[in-house]
Amino acid sequence: MARSLKFNIFRYNPQDTESTPHMESFTLGESDSMTLFIALNRIREEQDPSLQFDFCCRAGICGSCGMVINGRPGLACHTKTRDLPDEITLLPLPVFQLVGDLSVDTGSWFREMYDTVESWIHTKKTFDPAAPEERMDNDTAEAIYELDRCVECGCCIAACGTARMRPDFLGAAGLNRVGRFLIDPRDERSEQDYYEILGNDMGIFGCMGLLACEDVCPKHLPLQDQLGFLRRKMGITALKNFFGKK
Ligand code: SF4
Ligand code: SF4
Ligand code: FES
Repeated sequence: MARSLKFNIFRYNPQDTESTPHMESFTLGESDSMTLFIALNRIREEQDPSLQFDFCCRAGICGSCGMVINGRPGLACHTKTRDLPDEITLLPLPVFQLVGDLSVDTGSWFREMYDTVESWIHTKKTFDPAAPEERMDNDTAEAIYELDRCVECGCCIAACGTARMRPDFLGAAGLNRVGRFLIDPRDERSEQDYYEILGNDMGIFGCMGLLACEDVCPKHLPLQDQLGFLRRKMGITALKNFFGKK
């Protein structure tokens, strides 16, 4: 028999001076293969057209549907209700600016982070559009591609204790982004250049290493390996700096 699901959903519209943060409950009959995407759309269509939440691709690609699902950040379009109890609590991702209800602005956070880490290839070479494409060995290309799979959903940031305490912390997504350029042979930045970005509490030394980020990443990025790699690399650079100055 189909279950009756109870949804407890955070409601607040910061644009409306009359609005106050509160939880609101909705009841919905479960259907086969129901995802939270389907459930939220049905609630909006059948019960409350003012409910705000974000979706684009419905396929775990755009990263826009991140929310806290029964206490754990995750993608709503990738979460089946059959994997959840019959009472489901949905909250917006913390850390990011609230747009309304379950909708948050991850875009501004990621744009600022990309500016901070200078998320582009740094090279002194002059671009020649007529030149043949430079070759890269397969292993390196695959390693870069692996880290480039981040969909900017913000789940790792929402799960991160340091990001909750330090608004300037780069988070696992930011550190992963730097790691991606560190292994890219086209980027001519030195280890010292990367140290300027990462070698502080805003970067790798602010990370507490408890790996909630890795636990919740819906794309299963190798965040644990990345954080370990960056910590070793930046630790060695810090020692070189210390002894170099003596
Ligand atoms: S391991 Fe580091 S980046 Fe990941 S959640 Fe913990 S503090 Fe945040
Ligand atoms: S690293 Fe994973 S959890 Fe973090 S933003 Fe990218 S895809 Fe989302
Ligand atoms: S709607 Fe695109 S990831 Fe969920």
